[in-house]
Amino acid sequence: MQKKLWPAVAIAAAVSAAAHAEIPTSALDFAPLSTVLNAFASAAAHRRAESLVEKMTLDEKLQFIHSQYAMSSVPGGGAGYIQGVPRLGIPDLNMADSSTGSGSTSQPSTTFPATIAVAASWDRQLASNYGKQVAIQLRAQGFGMGLGGGTNLAREPRGGRLFEYLGEDPILAGEMLAERTDGTQSQKVIATIKHYMGNEQEHGRGGGNSQIDERTMRELYLLPFEIAARTAQPGNVMCSYNRVNGTYACENSHILNDVLKNEWHFEGQVQSDWGAAHSTAPAINAGLDEEEDVGSTVYLTPALVKQAIANGSVSTARLNDMVERKLYVMIRDGVMDDPAKGGKSINFAAANAFTQSTAEQSMVLLKNASNQLPLAAGALSRIAVIGGHADAAVLTGGGSGNTRDPVTGAFSGCGGLTFGTSSGCSWWTNPWLKVETPIVSAIQALAPQAKVTFAGNSDQTSPFRAYTQQEISQAATLAANSDVAVVVVAQPAGEDFGDLQSLSLANPTNQDALIEAVAAANPHTVVVVESGNPVLMPWKDKVSAIVEAWYPGEAGGKAIANVLFGKVNPSGKLPVTFPARDQDTPTWGTDGSFQTDPVYAEGLDMGYRWYDAKNITPMFEFGYGLSYTHFGYSDLSVKRLPGGLTDVSFDVRNDGRVAGAEVPQVYLGVPYQGEPPRRLVGWDKVALNPGQSRHVHVVVTPRMQSVWDTTHSRWQYVPGSSVYVGASSRDIRLQGRS
Ligand code: BGC
Repeated sequence: MQKKLWPAVAIAAAVSAAAHAEIPTSALDFAPLSTVLNAFASAAAHRRAESLVEKMTLDEKLQFIHSQYAMSSVPGGGAGYIQGVPRLGIPDLNMADSSTGSGSTSQPSTTFPATIAVAASWDRQLASNYGKQVAIQLRAQGFGMGLGGGTNLAREPRGGRLFEYLGEDPILAGEMLAERTDGTQSQKVIATIKHYMGNEQEHGRGGGNSQIDERTMRELYLLPFEIAARTAQPGNVMCSYNRVNGTYACENSHILNDVLKNEWHFEGQVQSDWGAAHSTAPAINAGLDEEEDVGSTVYLTPALVKQAIANGSVSTARLNDMVERKLYVMIRDGVMDDPAKGGKSINFAAANAFTQSTAEQSMVLLKNASNQLPLAAGALSRIAVIGGHADAAVLTGGGSGNTRDPVTGAFSGCGGLTFGTSSGCSWWTNPWLKVETPIVSAIQALAPQAKVTFAGNSDQTSPFRAYTQQEISQAATLAANSDVAVVVVAQPAGEDFGDLQSLSLANPTNQDALIEAVAAANPHTVVVVESGNPVLMPWKDKVSAIVEAWYPGEAGGKAIANVLFGKVNPSGKLPVTFPARDQDTPTWGTDGSFQTDPVYAEGLDMGYRWYDAKNITPMFEFGYGLSYTHFGYSDLSVKRLPGGLTDVSFDVRNDGRVAGAEVPQVYLGVPYQGEPPRRLVGWDKVALNPGQSRHVHVVVTPRMQSVWDTTHSRWQYVPGSSVYVGASSRDIRLQGRS
């Protein structure tokens, strides 16, 4: 499913695509139809917000720009709270984190697969449903605003919060974020996009200075925010902890005022990440609209803002603008007239089914030698399942993206299991294992006649301690006596726990040794990886199959089993490059040490563009993913349409014996100095039965064929790009010219 275009554009595109009611179009240049229709409603919301501001006292206004610490009008609260003004009919606004599910601090919520899994699905409708499903729970719990929507690019493959983001490509990330935002706001919940911007690592978390040249910012790091802000109009943009070119993001007038508000016409509010404001007048005048009180140093308190108004460093007009933005969003998104009241029941079973299908659509089959997968249940009498706590749980990401469990009501890592470190049961508790989703029992259910045996570290007092030699030997012996060995490996990561030192499976450190031993004992070794980051696979050539399952959420065990046994044909594609070695990554430098003040010296050559530009062969490239069937590509046609559009169309055919879905990707080689060999400009996801083919259209807008002209500070259209259509960023099947 693709976003509908403006009528005029749709007509133009239909010239060459008459049979298709909906045409994939790469982002920007054209607003979605909903934006046009909403323009009238939007003007009315502005008028109403302005008139409310006129009626508010100074104290009431000040209440609206400063979220109260540890206060809330829903049980237990979330992450922030703005008290309403009952005399004017303005309700309270409660906010909760929602990266991978509602972060209510006391109410149970569904744990959805990590956001990077959403990107790996390359499925726009799925991203929209994800935003909607998370929002349904937020609203039922009493939250009118969700703080999910992370989209910093995976510049640093070791980044501690990559699981909360949408990969390394700005178009993929931006379009999926826009869909998520639409889904959230369709439920009368204000959506957030974050962390704006240049917040690509945890090192220097408290204010590291990201040094990024303007062209790189425009073409890479600002772009996902631009796509989401302009096409989906989130109510809230969260500015980040770091500095951007010397100035804190939350008081950086260039990115807030110039770019976000003036160029992109963003009408919502800018909110500081928790503790990311550093001044009163400078921040307000640079575009910050609301500060989140973290209980320590605060700058937008009523007293300080009053003082700033009194001494003239902040104008009353600006204060009114800050308040009006918030009220406007509340009115526009339905939160003003129909506030979330909380106390509503949640259909956890339905949400669980959604999490399972999301996990299934996002898993990436990385290797499948001799069609090792899918496993044939009837042919297996002994199945070994090894490692990764596969007998008990799957892994989730930690930090503010964590959730309380619907079954136990506790945070991951606490419910049901008695891990030594989890006595506090807070979301900062390490580890983060989702307990109600054992892989072992899900496999047993699909192979009822087989003996399924688990081996691995069952030590629940220290789940990530290294495997002992004895455990590794036991696992190898079990594997030697089994028809197939499934090894589960896990790479934990989480906010505020720093970045990973290496992409190697570090925790426990000797998971690589475990795989090597099992693979030596059994030629039918299948590795399932649970991670939010790329991982190194020195054992890749020794195992027969590899599945990247990400952090698959609370139904992850069943989803993994369904993929392994072919109940689901994998269709995910990598949203991040999996390098062969740490040293090959753009940020490793000479020794892998992190810069507190990172210089984005690789410029536009980030992610797959780096490997392409430097001729480095990655282990698995961006956009890569196998299927249990295969697809043929043919009949490329590249046509110019009115309005500077380019219609790239081609046939995709399912050449195999089972139904499956393919993600054909369109890349451009833009002939302009400094541009990478290829950049993604569009894609589609097509489900095909065996023998079926589809003529796919991807309409590329002029913006996607443009570069940032630093001399004139504007986008410059570059004609004559090479067009590549592929099953990944390197598996190019068709080539043409625009
Ligand atoms: C995180 C944000 C989060 C906020 C509120 C911050 O530490 O960076 O992503 O929304 O906390 O919990």
